[in-house]
Amino acid sequence: MNYADRMSVFGESIFTTLAKMRYQRSAEGKEVIDLSIGAPNIPPALRIREIISKEALDPKNYVYAITDLTDLQNAVAAWYARRYGVKIDAQNEVSSLLGSQEGLSHLALTLINPGDIVLVQDPCYPIFRDGPLLAGADVHYMPLLKENDYLIDFEAIDEEVAKKAKLMVVSYPNNPTCAIANDDFYHRLIAFAKKYDIIVLHDNAYSELLYTTPGHSFLEYEGAKDVGLEFNSLSKTYGLAGARIGFAIGRKDLIDEIKVLKSNLDYGMFLPIQKAAIEAITGDQRCVEETRNAYRHRRDLLVDGCQAIGWNIEKPLGTMFVWAKIPDHYQDAESFTYDLFNKTGVLVVPGNAFGTHGEGYVRMALVQDDETIKHALEVMDASGIFQSH
Ligand SMILES: Cc1ncc(COP(=O)(O)O)c(C=O)c1O
Repeated sequence: MNYADRMSVFGESIFTTLAKMRYQRSAEGKEVIDLSIGAPNIPPALRIREIISKEALDPKNYVYAITDLTDLQNAVAAWYARRYGVKIDAQNEVSSLLGSQEGLSHLALTLINPGDIVLVQDPCYPIFRDGPLLAGADVHYMPLLKENDYLIDFEAIDEEVAKKAKLMVVSYPNNPTCAIANDDFYHRLIAFAKKYDIIVLHDNAYSELLYTTPGHSFLEYEGAKDVGLEFNSLSKTYGLAGARIGFAIGRKDLIDEIKVLKSNLDYGMFLPIQKAAIEAITGDQRCVEETRNAYRHRRDLLVDGCQAIGWNIEKPLGTMFVWAKIPDHYQDAESFTYDLFNKTGVLVVPGNAFGTHGEGYVRMALVQDDETIKHALEVMDASGIFQSH
């Protein structure tokens, strides 16, 4: 069978290799400590689960939703006002997404014709690149370098490419580098987008998982709504990853196009999930702080523990990941990842899985509980990998 060429976007990736390694080792009865995939293990607060459970019993909730509930749109506007001080037109500037991932896969279909240029960070969360590629985009990468604090260097973007670019996908707090962007960055981003008439998609999945300062929204900055939109997700902030809910928020014409596409593609979101989302973002917000504290604690355990066994890595200020430079005696991120896994069962993601500029680093997800992290540190220490060479 000749499958469509676009499926090659999802070719044999490092993630597939890691999944096979994990499967094979488990099948051999050996332990696997998985720090690879960012799948949160902190459940939603009870009040949110109670709403899903109550609403799921109501037979009226099994119709096609088609559109978002007005209460949900209003709840998102109230959330953005309370949390970020951003005024949103609830009816016209919000669309739910079946998770940000769904929006990231589909947004380019509304904007991009084959061959149109899309600017994407390198390294990046894979769907930032794959979504535009599915729409036939010509993807150009913007390297995120440590010496620039992993911020985009706008000066380094080729002027001719910038003139032709149609869309730019940007995300801070950043996965995988854990970098945070400051106000100046957002002012420069908006100025750049205006100068070259580029739409900005800002993905804001981790604004609530900053450990020292509150996170921001792209839409807080003047002119943001002229140039683009933000995706936000309830997956990490409220532990709703499996319930698949996120939002596109921002420029009206872009939101209109998303609504048109989605009303034809998916017929709307399961009503109990819409109602759970209303509860999540309008109810008692202590759960967000508890989640943040849990990730902070895991970060401290893991990073302090790695340093204690001889792996001198940096402490991130946010996200649910650690972006760790590989020990000097390894040539590249993949050889380190495979050696670590074979000797300990600890599975991490080699940084080059996120783009060529991720080479030399691995990403560890803080998705295991404290006991498992402590155990991972013990087996890593016992392996001798981190003793000086
Ligand atoms: C940067 C980023 N954006 C989006 C997502 C996906 O979020 P959602 O569960 O809302 O699809 C993730 C998940 O790991 C992510 O890291």
